[in-house]
Amino acid sequence: MDNYKVPEHIAIIMDGNGRWAKKKHMPRNYGHSQGSKTLERVCEDAFHMGVKYLTVYAFSTENWSRSEEEVNGLMNLLRVYMKDAVKKSKKNNMRVRVIGDASRLAKDIQESINVLEESSMNNTGLQFQVALNYGGRDEIIRSVRKLAEKVKSGEISADEIDEKMFSETLDTRGIPDPDLLIRTSAEQRISNFMLWQLSYTEFYFPEVLWPDFSKKDLEEAIAYYNKRERRYGGV
Ligand code: FPP
Repeated sequence: MDNYKVPEHIAIIMDGNGRWAKKKHMPRNYGHSQGSKTLERVCEDAFHMGVKYLTVYAFSTENWSRSEEEVNGLMNLLRVYMKDAVKKSKKNNMRVRVIGDASRLAKDIQESINVLEESSMNNTGLQFQVALNYGGRDEIIRSVRKLAEKVKSGEISADEIDEKMFSETLDTRGIPDPDLLIRTSAEQRISNFMLWQLSYTEFYFPEVLWPDFSKKDLEEAIAYYNKRERRYGGV
């Protein structure tokens, strides 16, 4: 197709794992486990379609309030996922970064994150960001504190702070803002995800529950993005 544009950066709120499991009379963590398989497939599909950056919301600052069983299940899934990702990122030439405040995660998970980030940092394939203990407001507050410290120490003056400097203080420094946000399961909320970075992003809310999100769903999301782009082009 002429002028067909693939978004350079797609952000995804992977919603509906719990409802998917409930429909199958299975525990919620079964939905998360299937969701993590879907995520691996989507990374490959997105890269083959020409997406350069993919950022997913895996665990929010609010998710700690879920039951202990569910939080532990998600953390154990994360443990396995991080270990596998070291090998997979090598094989796929994928760079993985974590956004969010990792300091509240268990020490062994923090170590796995460090190993994964360092071992994949020169990979030039898909640039994959996983949001863990992430909240958009928390990220902004952490940036404000860093800048306030710099002003206090005299390294910068308050007047020097502009959008560019602020962006470079966020967890997503060096990563372009998302072109397209997908939230599955028909929920239409941002839920504290990438508040600063989503300012000009197109939003797409398919009904499919995350574990069922297929290659066709990704293609439909990109087709939707193209329609939006064409409308803008006509103005
Ligand atoms: C939202 O569905 C999903 C989550 C809170 C967790 C997302 C996590 C994964 C897909 C696991 C894979 C990621 C890693 C890196 C381990 P929900 O539980 O809110 O679903 P519901 O709204 O139907 O209850």
